[in-house]
Amino acid sequence: MKDVQPQVIYLSDYKAPLFLIEKTRLNFEIQEEFVVVTSLLDIYRNPEREAEAGNELELNGDELELLSVKIDGVQLSAAAYKTTDDKLIIEGMPERCVLSIETKIFPQLNTALEGLYKSSGMYCTQCEAEGFRRITYFLDRPDVMSTYEVTITADKGKYPVLLSNGNLIDSQNLDDGRHLTTWHDPHKKPCYLFALVAGDLQHIEDNFVTASGEDVTLRIYVEPQNIDKCDYAMGALKRSMKWDEEVYGREYDLNIFNIVAVDDFNMGAMENKSLNIFNSSCVLASPETSTDTTFQRIEAIVAHEYFHNWSGNRVTCRDWFQLSLKEGFTVFRDAEFSADMASRTVKRIEDVDVLKTVQFAEDAGPMAHPIRPASFIEISNFYTVTVYEKGAEVVRMIHNLLGAELFRKGSDLYFSKYDGQAVTTEEFVSSMEEASGIDLTTFRNWYHQAGTPEVEVTDFYDPESKTYTLDLKQSCRATPESQTKQPFHIPVEIGLLMADGSDAKLVCETEGEFNAKTSVIGLKKQSERFVFTGIEEKPVPSLLRGFSAPVKLKYNYSKDQLLFLMANDSDGFNRWDAGQKLAIEIILSLATDIKNQASWTLAPELISVYKELLTNDALEKAMIVQMLTLPAVSYLMELKTPADVQALIAAREFVKETLANALKVDFLACYHANMQAGTFELTSGAMAQRSLMNLCLQFLLETEDPAMLDIARQQFDSANNMTDQSAALVAIVNSVFQQDAQDVLAQFYEQWKHNPLVLNMWFSIQAGSDQTGGVEGINQLIAHSDYDLKNPNKVRSVVGVFAGQNLKHFHDASGNGYEWLADRIIEMDAINPQVASRLLGPFTKWQRLNTELGELMYSALLRIQNHGELSKDVYEVVSKSLVR
Ligand code: TRP
Ligand code: ZN
Repeated sequence: MKDVQPQVIYLSDYKAPLFLIEKTRLNFEIQEEFVVVTSLLDIYRNPEREAEAGNELELNGDELELLSVKIDGVQLSAAAYKTTDDKLIIEGMPERCVLSIETKIFPQLNTALEGLYKSSGMYCTQCEAEGFRRITYFLDRPDVMSTYEVTITADKGKYPVLLSNGNLIDSQNLDDGRHLTTWHDPHKKPCYLFALVAGDLQHIEDNFVTASGEDVTLRIYVEPQNIDKCDYAMGALKRSMKWDEEVYGREYDLNIFNIVAVDDFNMGAMENKSLNIFNSSCVLASPETSTDTTFQRIEAIVAHEYFHNWSGNRVTCRDWFQLSLKEGFTVFRDAEFSADMASRTVKRIEDVDVLKTVQFAEDAGPMAHPIRPASFIEISNFYTVTVYEKGAEVVRMIHNLLGAELFRKGSDLYFSKYDGQAVTTEEFVSSMEEASGIDLTTFRNWYHQAGTPEVEVTDFYDPESKTYTLDLKQSCRATPESQTKQPFHIPVEIGLLMADGSDAKLVCETEGEFNAKTSVIGLKKQSERFVFTGIEEKPVPSLLRGFSAPVKLKYNYSKDQLLFLMANDSDGFNRWDAGQKLAIEIILSLATDIKNQASWTLAPELISVYKELLTNDALEKAMIVQMLTLPAVSYLMELKTPADVQALIAAREFVKETLANALKVDFLACYHANMQAGTFELTSGAMAQRSLMNLCLQFLLETEDPAMLDIARQQFDSANNMTDQSAALVAIVNSVFQQDAQDVLAQFYEQWKHNPLVLNMWFSIQAGSDQTGGVEGINQLIAHSDYDLKNPNKVRSVVGVFAGQNLKHFHDASGNGYEWLADRIIEMDAINPQVASRLLGPFTKWQRLNTELGELMYSALLRIQNHGELSKDVYEVVSKSLVR
């Protein structure tokens, strides 16, 4: 916490480091009240900057107590160096020397969870992005890559397991009950990939033989009570290792790979070299305690962190502006992995849903930034859906432009050419260009321009010449970093549907003949015309198939055209999208007519579409679930400014209720048809069946029929898995049957009070409910003895869920939801700035609300700003959001 105005860091100021570190030796002396860290750094002048004058070394440091500094074994006098708030500066550095620094740190007081900290009795680290500077003074930047040798000494009884990166090269018992281990990591790495763990842990073990025959020992370390919840993650790890060999030709490069689960963690997981550290919520699972969604999330995150070994660790980022180099690419890789493990179309729908709801909103708000930002105040604020998910979309577009084969040639070139180096997004793009011969000049604009492009499409059919003309026009609103935009290269995948539902053969006047794989038109200019010949009848266009570019596509579909696409489009994604468009149109028009709420009626088309879907046995079930899911209010809010949140909530609720009452018999039949007898299965088919059954249950409780409540209670009591049990709980808690809701909540608590991960769910179900999640309700939750504001998972379960998902109460006309969140943020900033800053998310959207709510939110933001002592994290988001 600094009182000076936080400084802006610019990409354009990047300079290679003046010194480099060849080898880093670290010694951790773990005592109960403190840890003494001694470093021995083989440091030398960067040859790239040899010619320059100046020999001052500036090391980063934060919250460190400096004990001593030595050069080549000789202690420096206090006059030979100086320390500031965040630096250690040594003048007159020799060309090459061994620099030794001794610091004292206090992990048990570290609530920010960056650097070395304690989580339920064990020591662990989180160094990305800039946490290593809280361990020792260092060149804490990713372009300084070094080999590491790490010795850890601790009490053997309390901390029998001592881990770091690489191979174990020594382990000894010492006097007075202490012991040590020494680890050597042969691969050069930036310090953000350093990790250390010390604790009383148990592990499961398995192995993987690489394509070249190397045997890799795989271990997952957890606290003893969780040892029965590691198997699923282990399986996911092995599947990931195999997939990366098959799809990218990437083998693992050490004989050991460890995962450690910790309860207190700022994010999902971290890819530290050979020692991944995971939020326990992203690794522990069993059918009794975890939902299917959790299993899928674990598989994706285990894969994500594993894939970083190549896209992130072997080839890393030159500076933090390049974050998307590793994150965008790795998210693309894990999404493709998940698509290969289950349903490709459904995975795509889920990802695009997040992109459109969360990333488009970010891109339209005050925190909008390109996937490669040009400036930041606090890098932790840039681990965003833009850098991650939009970054992955940009890589996906390259993949689709090149095709799988040339993309693989490009990734092979990238990995071999830049192995062991810290590079920029330019190296990635130019590798793809070089390997494929495809020009990506215009495409590069995606990297440095923020904002979601809009593509307006108009069409014209000429029956005489049998030509069909598509006119595409792109535009992009101003964002903080650029007022005017260069055109983006936008690949638009299309199909033209004939009356019988088939795809017309595409021959374009300018682009030649298309086949099924290349039905993509590339919009590179502000506006372009594409004329298709030999089109026998007026087609229904299927545009942006598979969501081929992260844009907002505008085309004036009629209701009939949407119904036709829903039934016939050969592109599964667009079938879903057509249904969403239909529902959106219906809900938005109801919401506009909020004054006549009493006379609302539901379009009969939607009812028949739903009825058809409930008995459809041609479509895969996971797909049916997606198609039966109404667009979320948070997405609807993005479509209309100013958004009348309460009207949207009421309209969506009306649609849901009306469907439920009109189709009660069908929902009930579908519910029973999808009930599974016998043993629990984790196959994607069984998961899809559960989710269809539980979606039906949700609708059934909308009918307010006590008989449906009985069904839900029956499911709650007899479920043999958490998916079904929690779905019943959610349905009851959100129903009119509030006495029963209290009963089942109490029952659930009694059953699971000893399992913190299940309790997180118990908290979030209540915080997210219209019924139980009013300000009074959430105040009770944060006063509960199991709530812990030092544990990010708990905070996210209550505060995050309330502000992000409980739109009805958060946007209460009184403004008390906003005031409550502001209080939580101020309180949290003193404890954990990263978590506090993330809680600000909902506040960054104040300009999209109607004036009354917008002003209430604005004043809540002002109150945070005027609070005074703010972290850089919170300061950056608040000050950028307050710009009118
Ligand atoms: N590199 C991690 C990932 O995406 C992200 C991460 C984990 C992180 N913990 C963090 C980023 C703490 C910032 C701060 O896989
Ligand atoms: Zn990542």
